Amino acid sequence: MKSQFLSLFSGALLLSQDVVAQVASPLGGPSPPAKKVWVYRRWAGANYACKCYAGDSCWPSGKDWQSLNTTVGGNLRVNLPPGAPCYNTFQGPLGNVSTFNAAQCASVTAGFPSEQYQIELPAAGLWTYFTNDTCRPTTNPAESCTLGYYPTLVITAKTVGHIQAGINFARENNLRLVVRNTGHDFLGRSVGWGALVINTHGFQDISLTNSWGGAGGYSGSAITVGAGVQAFTALGRLNALRPPKIMVTGECATVGVAGGLPQGGGHGPWTNQQGFLADTALEFKVITADGILRTTNANTNSDLFWGLRGGGPATFAVIVSASYRTFDDPVSTGITLEINLSQTPNATLFWKAITAFTGYSNYFVDNGIYVYYELGTMGQNLHVQPFVGIGKTVAQLQAIVKPLFDDLKAIGVPYTTTTKTFSTFYDLYRDMFETEVAGQSALTGGWTIGKEDIRVNNTGVVNAFKTILDNGSFMVGHMWNAGYGLPATRWNESSVNPRFRSVSNKLITLVPVSGNAPLAEKAAAQRKLTYVIDGALKAAAPNGAAYINEADPYIPNWQEVFWGTNYPALLNLRKKWDPSSVFYAVSTPGTEAWEQIEYGTRLCKKV
Ligand SMILES: Cc1cc2nc3c(=O)[nH]c(=O)nc-3n(C[C@H](O)[C@H](O)[C@H](O)COP(=O)(O)OP(=O)(O)OC[C@H]3O[C@@H](n4cnc5c(N)ncnc54)[C@H](O)[C@@H]3O)c2cc1C
Ligand SMILES: *[C@@H]1O[C@H](CO)[C@@H](O)[C@H](O)[C@H]1NC(C)=O
Ligand SMILES: *[C@@H]1O[C@H](CO)[C@@H](O)[C@H](O)[C@H]1NC(C)=O
Ligand SMILES: *[C@@H]1O[C@H](CO)[C@@H](O)[C@H](O)[C@H]1NC(C)=O
Ligand SMILES: *[C@@H]1O[C@H](CO)[C@@H](O)[C@H](O)[C@H]1NC(C)=O
Ligand SMILES: *[C@@H]1O[C@H](CO)[C@@H](O)[C@H](O)[C@H]1NC(C)=O
Ligand SMILES: *[C@@H]1O[C@H](CO)[C@@H](O)[C@H](O)[C@H]1NC(C)=O
Ligand SMILES: *[C@@H]1O[C@H](CO)[C@@H](O)[C@H](O)[C@H]1NC(C)=O
Ligand SMILES: *[C@@H]1O[C@H](CO)[C@@H](O)[C@H](O)[C@H]1NC(C)=O
Repeated sequence: MKSQFLSLFSGALLLSQDVVAQVASPLGGPSPPAKKVWVYRRWAGANYACKCYAGDSCWPSGKDWQSLNTTVGGNLRVNLPPGAPCYNTFQGPLGNVSTFNAAQCASVTAGFPSEQYQIELPAAGLWTYFTNDTCRPTTNPAESCTLGYYPTLVITAKTVGHIQAGINFARENNLRLVVRNTGHDFLGRSVGWGALVINTHGFQDISLTNSWGGAGGYSGSAITVGAGVQAFTALGRLNALRPPKIMVTGECATVGVAGGLPQGGGHGPWTNQQGFLADTALEFKVITADGILRTTNANTNSDLFWGLRGGGPATFAVIVSASYRTFDDPVSTGITLEINLSQTPNATLFWKAITAFTGYSNYFVDNGIYVYYELGTMGQNLHVQPFVGIGKTVAQLQAIVKPLFDDLKAIGVPYTTTTKTFSTFYDLYRDMFETEVAGQSALTGGWTIGKEDIRVNNTGVVNAFKTILDNGSFMVGHMWNAGYGLPATRWNESSVNPRFRSVSNKLITLVPVSGNAPLAEKAAAQRKLTYVIDGALKAAAPNGAAYINEADPYIPNWQEVFWGTNYPALLNLRKKWDPSSVFYAVSTPGTEAWEQIEYGTRLCKKV
């Protein structure tokens, strides 16, 4: 396979009839490097300047790619969709290749639903909608396997120099660049049609200290992780310390702790206690769009440091390593709750129970309790797994949840519940949070409900939930407040939307739709997500906000709903640190003029 691909870099595949021209400086800012050229396209009645893709005459020559490959230590590969071994032929942008391999097909078929299997592939997307759901594992090798929106080439970076070479090559040749870590992204930001990927998952170093002597006026315990480290690895290392330590991570153990998570904010079971993962950051080592390795902390490049703490993934720089505060890990207790009327539906009972449950959102976060739940996955069901009491005994947590359980008894809704206690939160986390699967296709949206909204309009919020379930969607919920335990004097150290300091119930909404559904069906699903599903939540909770890592990127007025009053400063930072848009992730600061035109393919700037 390899040798066939090498011959495809001969340059003979330059098919483009595009008008290609040298442009002085269409983006403003410093003059682009001499080689930087734009491909001009017309789409839907407007003019666009686009990045260079395979087939365009500005696409680098085979010699250029081989020279890049040498610089990155031979770690450049032509990307194949994960399912390619199940097909006779992969029809890629660089030509056709025979790909069938029965053993590899069996292994990818078995592995496709596993998060960790997909994470270890260099350029897979765990939620497949934004790969265009192309070339999934199949039993019919004669079907067609195309690249869809998977990237074209990938650098599996092993050193800082490899990342620098990738950034420089993408900038100089005006290529679409995608940074990829674990591929968890719900918004399609770790894949991208025709792109060159820099995969940072190989950066797995971890170091621990009891006395952070660096910047930020902090001298307590801390962890430094390489860009690719996942939550379960970092937490395992911290738990092995005596006494055991803990850090803020997401609820999901497989998400990375130094890639998209801190750059979006990063909420989890510890958010009531310590805020977002971004709020606990002490330092990031990053490579900026100019290819330079920089230290960012409260003293050095402090503006960039602030932007990296919640200002949007893949917006300002590529993270190489991150340092965070760590904490003592106390006794913790978890309680589950199951209300399941899917076999004996009774809407009156069900919605009375949900009204009681959401009515306690403020009460739970005001008591430091985090709640992870799923609503409507099986029709009339609520699955809470779990209520988390960090530092709480069984008696303490049971006393806190008692008013809700009393209400459920009074309503007369059947439910089941379990309680477990652990000597650390880490043990609870490994035991009570459920594993998630990969390979599903859905559009995801979401909204976070303000405490004021619960206070004045709990009925309106529950009516929005009804609309969502009635319209074939369901929700994953998280009750937390990022201002409960973190002193208000530290809130502005991160660039997350300040509104997250006064919320209590964060929802992810899902609209299942196949990535290869007809275009009209995909457009209808997107409209439904934006206007019916998330529209209902926004109308019921005007004091809320949207979370950039778990939201509809096409939500109206995205600058305001993702970043609130921090947006103008983030926009200025983007202009300063990435003036020629080397990086791109949908709906992040400074991407207003950028669009993936031609049915989600070419990344272009309106001119
Ligand atoms: C099952 C599941 C559970 C989740 N649970 C939570 C949760 O509890 N809390 C929460 O806050 N979020 C949660 N998320 C959302 C999570 O925050 C995002 O998916 C996040 O973007 C994942 O980051 P990643 O680096 O692991 O993944 P990737 O998909 O590889 O990357 C995500 C984004 O970060 C960018 N990026 C990756 N690496 C780097 C780097 N080294 N430098 C610069 N940019 C980089 C990518 O370009 C992309 O834009 C969950 C997601 C899933 C799928
Ligand atoms: C890059 O070099 C390695 C090692 O020589 C080789 O195996 C690989 O095929 C090359 N990649 C490309 C895209 O040519
Ligand atoms: C690739 O294969 C497809 C399907 O067999 C065929 O239609 C197409 O012409 C081939 N392309 C090239 C470049 O050989
Ligand atoms: C993406 O999928 C749509 C169907 O949903 C299809 O029309 C389009 O050609 C696909 N594009 C690519 C690049 O695979
Ligand atoms: C809900 O009840 C149905 C039927 O009794 C059962 O099949 C399903 O597994 C239950 N779901 C949960 C999450 O307990
Ligand atoms: C729903 O439950 C309530 C309370 O038990 C009961 O009065 C009502 O008749 C039930 N409705 C249906 C449709 O079974
Ligand atoms: C309450 O929610 C409803 C939607 O369910 C909305 O129409 C109404 O405006 C909301 N009221 C307030 C005060 O926010
Ligand atoms: C969505 O839900 C609302 C409110 O329950 C309902 O009126 C509407 O018909 C639903 N729309 C669709 C497309 O199902
Ligand atoms: C946060 O606000 C305080 C008080 O207004 C100010 O002194 C400080 O510089 C701000 N910090 C940041 C990072 O903006």
